[in-house]
Amino acid sequence: MRAANAINIEDLRTLAKRRLPRMVFDYIDGGADDEQTLRANTQRFRDRELLWNVLVDVSDIDLSISVMGVKSPLPFILAPTAAQRLFHPHLGELAAARAAAAHEAVYAVSTVATQTLEDIAAAHPGPKIFQLYVWKNRALLEGILERAKAAGYTGLVLTVDLPAMGNRERDPRNGFTVPVQLNAKTIPQALAKPAYLIDLVRGGPAEPANFNTAGQKDALDRENGRFDPSITWEYLAWLRSVWDGPLGVKGMARPDDARRALDAGVDAVWISNHGGRQLDTCPASIDTLEPIAKAVDGQAEIILDGGVRRGTDIVKAYALGADAVAVGRAYLYGLAAGGEAGVARAIEILRCETERAMALMGRRSLSELNAADVIER
Ligand SMILES: Cc1cc2nc3c(=O)[nH]c(=O)nc-3n(C[C@H](O)[C@H](O)[C@H](O)COP(=O)(O)O)c2cc1C
Repeated sequence: MRAANAINIEDLRTLAKRRLPRMVFDYIDGGADDEQTLRANTQRFRDRELLWNVLVDVSDIDLSISVMGVKSPLPFILAPTAAQRLFHPHLGELAAARAAAAHEAVYAVSTVATQTLEDIAAAHPGPKIFQLYVWKNRALLEGILERAKAAGYTGLVLTVDLPAMGNRERDPRNGFTVPVQLNAKTIPQALAKPAYLIDLVRGGPAEPANFNTAGQKDALDRENGRFDPSITWEYLAWLRSVWDGPLGVKGMARPDDARRALDAGVDAVWISNHGGRQLDTCPASIDTLEPIAKAVDGQAEIILDGGVRRGTDIVKAYALGADAVAVGRAYLYGLAAGGEAGVARAIEILRCETERAMALMGRRSLSELNAADVIER
């Protein structure tokens, strides 16, 4: 099977597993500790059932959204994910950005992307969001907001669920680190996937591309993947004072924090548990949506990610109060399976599934969905 023939996201996952060395597949696919939250993120969507209305004219369905000041015809955006050249060594983020651009998808770019934010912007002239991680060594981030603005990123998102790295046990088991070290554990995994290995050797090491001066590289090595654990609400307030475009805060799970984010002046509260990669045993994202939507009460947009693999998941999120839905692994499996064509396939699958689910629900636009459309088993 080729990525273009994948019928659903699970097919793309199977293809990604076939193509990638186990350690790289597990880095995408895995979660923290016992992976309870990782499983819950998808399971809790499935635990909810949809109730439809009949005899509604659904010949025209509008899936468009408006989020953080930009519009997209698609009902989902692409979440920021690190190191995409690990998953597609040749182009990484550029392949994802091109597919996103062709579908007018909003693409969120990680601080630790393996292509420069300027090159990604050239590949995706449409709406883009820049995601920020903060290191202790602030010199690393010097000028990055100005660069993002100059390159046309309209929205900025601060990710706040990573004061420590989640305990992702598949990684040490596989001997996996970013960047990949060649050793007795990793070499056999790489040799088992020669096509991937050839791409990797051709493409060169997948390193954070936005910090490429000698001084920055050195500082990055010293930070050793750790982000500043001391940042607080004051940092968010400072960001608000220096970023004049739409600002979001990503990694939210509680109504009290959502209210504090409103006080800090954010435009978007991004509900996320990092795809189950950080604090394990926290609730599935979808379970935290309704209380947060109640607390936010329309004063900011609500973006939700975590466990979205089907159009029906997307429909449920809008019904329960999301203003936008983001997907991570769904498009990363596509990227690994087939580069730009694989991401395009992931986007098409989710778009078609959502459109079909809307027709079957008797709903013509996402705003027509409401909590009464969803029942919990
Ligand atoms: C491989 C991988 C790398 C990620 N890297 C980042 C990142 O650099 N910044 C960030 O804010 N979130 C990152 N995330 C989290 C995603 O933005 C998103 O919250 C998560 O993937 C949503 O869950 P889903 O994969 O079930 O859709 C990453 C997720 C994955 C799977």
